[in-house]
Amino acid sequence: MILSIALIWAVVVGFCCLLWLAVGIRHRQSSEPPVENGLIPYLGCALQFGANPLQFLRSRQKKYGHIFTCKIAGQYIHFLCDPFSYHSVIRQGRHLDWRKFHFATSVKPEGRHWVVDPDERAGQMVQEANPQLRIGGPTSLRGLISMLESGYLTLFGKELGEDKCQARQEAQKALVLNALENFKEFDKIFPALVAGLPIHVFKSAYCARENLAKTMHAEKLSKRENVSDLISMRMILNDSLSTFNDVSKARTHVALLWASQANTLPATFWSLFYMIRSPDAMKAAREEVQKVFETFGLKIDPDNPTLNLTRDVLDNMPVLDSIMKEAMRLSSASLNIRVAKEDFLLHLDNQEAYRIRKDDVIALYPPMLHYDPEIYEDPYEYKFDRFLDEKGQEKTTFTRKGRKLRYFYMPFGSGVTKCPGRFFAVYEMKQFLSLVLSYFDMELLDPAIQVPPLDQSRAGLGILQPTYDVDFRYKLRSV
Ligand code: HEM
Repeated sequence: MILSIALIWAVVVGFCCLLWLAVGIRHRQSSEPPVENGLIPYLGCALQFGANPLQFLRSRQKKYGHIFTCKIAGQYIHFLCDPFSYHSVIRQGRHLDWRKFHFATSVKPEGRHWVVDPDERAGQMVQEANPQLRIGGPTSLRGLISMLESGYLTLFGKELGEDKCQARQEAQKALVLNALENFKEFDKIFPALVAGLPIHVFKSAYCARENLAKTMHAEKLSKRENVSDLISMRMILNDSLSTFNDVSKARTHVALLWASQANTLPATFWSLFYMIRSPDAMKAAREEVQKVFETFGLKIDPDNPTLNLTRDVLDNMPVLDSIMKEAMRLSSASLNIRVAKEDFLLHLDNQEAYRIRKDDVIALYPPMLHYDPEIYEDPYEYKFDRFLDEKGQEKTTFTRKGRKLRYFYMPFGSGVTKCPGRFFAVYEMKQFLSLVLSYFDMELLDPAIQVPPLDQSRAGLGILQPTYDVDFRYKLRSV
């Protein structure tokens, strides 16, 4: 009896394996890139890729060359690793579609691509940032609550207006802290959402998203003061073009809140961390900020910490730019994705052409560039002036094997899907760094602390978070 059950099982398992081999895996056709199906049905290479994408892709690049195909969670993804061939994917060809994650499209009412104007509320940002920067005691670099507060209030305005009354200011703060708690809860499960799991599976994250959405109903938003032009415009478009109901419209605002914060916060963390850790960077940054403030007649006054850091002021800070760029080079891990709308031939820079099937995904993984020793010498080292030329201005020429590269730095994505908030983000971070440099002396609690490893669970989504907090100390500078 036991023997016959075992035999039946063996036949069933054997049949399933044959079926999988026959229809579950892809067989490479002529002119197609080399293909790796992985050993696990459906998942394919997902686990190996997820554990360390850069290591995985490097090992496959060594084995297969400039382009190869991996099955990941049921999808065949062609990874293109030759930066000189990126252009054939990034330019908006008729064969490729850029609408990939439904999250991304949900940010856009009626599929519009937004570019956020960095001039919006530049001054207000500074006012929001200051009150939160508490002096004394060690605090955690990862917290960066003031950044979320600034970004949130800059985009969505204040529920209780600009009232200077202390009680109302406290109430305003409590509302922001509440939003922050909900944001953190929602953000925690974001990688799972992008992987395709429904939000209803995560009860507390679902509640957090709904709580945030409730604060963003059109009726509520219209009562807030200083709502940014971006959000006001989205509300008008939502009303005139969208077929969403009120709740769904509010949820698209939550997605925008996520997009505006989830990368900016870790990017600011890494910029501040590396800057504090490098005395040369700190010195150069401080000198630059002091000089620019003098040129523009800006005075540091701890009793009146409101500075009007306009675009003109911030455009004159190449050192801060380089400090931030280098921090993002080391921490960004966005996956740039396009989907094939039809079968077509992808032409590479070396004159080879590969057949791509309809609905396949083509992916670029910028860390392959950012950590390439032939582009960036000692790529794992933080060099604050890496993006400065010999005249101390922005360095724009990078080469590989003596050839000038068109794509060498891509933390904001590329082409038509390039982050529309990139200018806003850079100005926001520069304002923050200029302020902390001007008002505070800062040091790491443990000056010998190692760089925290990157949390790979978010690989593909943007700037990675550190795996643990870093404590630092700061006090008001004597002016
Ligand atoms: C350091 C900060 C930031 C980084 C590194 C970053 C990076 C990215 C990346 C890699 C993408 C996907 C691009 C692609 O698919 O090719 C993206 C999309 C997006 N980002 Fe950012 N971002 C940042 C800040 C912001 C801010 C401040 C805002 C809004 C104010 C914003 C709004 C968006 C939106 C709406 C999208 C979706 C665009 C679309 O699908 O068309 N981002 N961002």
